[in-house]
Amino acid sequence: MSKLSGKYAIVTGGNRGIGAAIVKRFLEDDAAGVAIFCRRYDAAVAFAAEVDPSGERAFPVACDVSDAESVHEAVAKVLEKFGRIDILVNNAGITRDRIFHRMSLEEWNAVISTNLTSMFNTCHEVYPLMRAQEYGHIVNIASGSVWGNVGQANYAASKAGVVGFTSTLAKEGAPKNVVCNCIAPGTIETDMLKAVPPEKYAEFCAAVPMKRIGQPSEIASVASFLASDDASYVTGQCISVNGGYRTGP
Ligand SMILES: NC(=O)c1ccc[n+]([C@@H]2O[C@H](COP(=O)([O-])OP(=O)(O)OC[C@H]3O[C@@H](n4cnc5c(N)ncnc54)[C@H](O)[C@@H]3O)[C@@H](O)[C@H]2O)c1
Repeated sequence: MSKLSGKYAIVTGGNRGIGAAIVKRFLEDDAAGVAIFCRRYDAAVAFAAEVDPSGERAFPVACDVSDAESVHEAVAKVLEKFGRIDILVNNAGITRDRIFHRMSLEEWNAVISTNLTSMFNTCHEVYPLMRAQEYGHIVNIASGSVWGNVGQANYAASKAGVVGFTSTLAKEGAPKNVVCNCIAPGTIETDMLKAVPPEKYAEFCAAVPMKRIGQPSEIASVASFLASDDASYVTGQCISVNGGYRTGP
């Protein structure tokens, strides 16, 4: 029996980067089913076929996590397919970096709604089911940026919100055996980094005690632990996965 045997999961933004690594890891750890929530259905279908050619365990679902109605429909599809949801990974996220005095309200709202309101949307659908079945593991992807990064007022605010939201849901869900934790990745090699100029990339590496950028699989292994019963008494935590890079107030 593997770590996630018999468990059904949703991973948002699960077709690439950290989300894709989490989907792959959950399948390796023998999850019974993993729903891949993706804005573009064709991308979800292609990725599901790549990671699960049998089509039995990876389930592609179109979903814009910033849109409550889209999330409602997507969760209904998962329930129809799997019958239950044990694990929810809120991974989808975006950046719209700009120095604050030039940041538009549109850039602010896009990041808050995708990175933070999305968690209201998904948890509002899934968390009551977890309470009712008295079992659930929620893993939210935050960021080391919560202490502030130049050009990331919107992103840092959204991720700090994720940490507060996680601690609250952990306290409220604990009596019903619903655990809720987050992971704060450092700099991880994904498409999100493509916006970073090469000289900045070298700077990032130099600042990390391990002198390298992290890999998506190194976030996925921690997500798999938090999603599993190995973490049955772990809740309300934010685990930094960052090669030793420390940020703080
Ligand atoms: N890469 C890093 O260095 C890093 C560091 C800290 C935190 N994070 C966080 O990790 C998570 C994953 O980031 P990544 O680096 O893999 O980025 P990525 O850009 O490669 O992937 C993000 C995923 O989210 C999806 N997504 C975006 N908006 C969506 C929406 N409205 N509805 C549904 N899906 C949506 C994208 O389609 C994509 O699949 C994000 O929450 C990000 O903030 C990343």
